Amino acid sequence: MTPDELLSTTRAVRKRLDLTRPVERDLLEECLGLAFQAPTGGDAQNWHFVLVTEPSRKQALADLYRRSKAENDPAEPPPGKEKMMDASAYLAAHLHEVPVLVIPCIQGRPESLPYMAQAVTWGSILPATWSFMLAARSRGLGTAWTSLHLGYEREAAGVLGIPYEQVAQTALIPVAHTIGTDFRPGPRHPRDQRVHWDSW
Ligand SMILES: Cc1cc2nc3c(=O)[nH]c(=O)nc-3n(C[C@H](O)[C@H](O)[C@H](O)COP(=O)(O)O)c2cc1C
Repeated sequence: MTPDELLSTTRAVRKRLDLTRPVERDLLEECLGLAFQAPTGGDAQNWHFVLVTEPSRKQALADLYRRSKAENDPAEPPPGKEKMMDASAYLAAHLHEVPVLVIPCIQGRPESLPYMAQAVTWGSILPATWSFMLAARSRGLGTAWTSLHLGYEREAAGVLGIPYEQVAQTALIPVAHTIGTDFRPGPRHPRDQRVHWDSW
C-alpha cells in the first residue's frame, strides 16, 4: 500500500471488524512504536495508551458507551447520515466483542485550562492516536475513532484504574482484523468550500 493509499483509505471501520479473530500483541506493539514517534507540545510525551482485552472490562466499557449513546443520539438520523448511524449502532451493539479497545490518554485535565493549553493538550494526543490508526490499517487492522464513552469518563476510569483527576481519556478506539482489506476513500465536502488561500 502506498502512503497516499493508506492516507485516503483509513476509514472508520465498524461493520467490517472481525470479532472472531484475536489481534496479535506484536502487531499492537508495532503500532504503538510508530504512535510514539508523533509530536507533542513541548516534547512532553505525556501520553498513555490503555489497551483493554479482558472480557469483563470490555463489557463494562461497552455498557457505558451504550448508555451514553442512548442519551446523545438524535431521535432520527440526520438526512444523509442513515448508513453511518446504522454502522454506529452495529458497533455499539458489538463493542464488547471487539478484540481490543484502545484508550489514548493524556496527563492533565483539559477542561479547566485556558484555550491555548487545551489546544496543546488535544494536539499532543491526536497525532499519536492517528499514527496508531494508520499503522493498524497498514497491518490489516481496522479502527474507528469514538468518543461516546467519555460521557461516562469517570466511571470508565474506575473500570480501568485510571487516575481520573490526573489523566484524561480522549477517545476509545476499537481494534480488530478487518473483514477484507479493500477500503475506498470516503465521501467528503468539496475542498473549494473549505480551503482558504491567503484570506478566509
Ligand atoms: C472526534 C471524533 C469522534 C467520533 N466519535 C464517534 C463515536 O463515538 N462513535 C462512532 O461510531 N463514530 C465516531 N466517530 C466517527 C465519525 O462518526 C465518522 O464516521 C468518521 O470520522 C468518518 O468515517 P469515514 O472515514 O469512514 O468516512 C468519531 C470521529 C471523530 C473524528
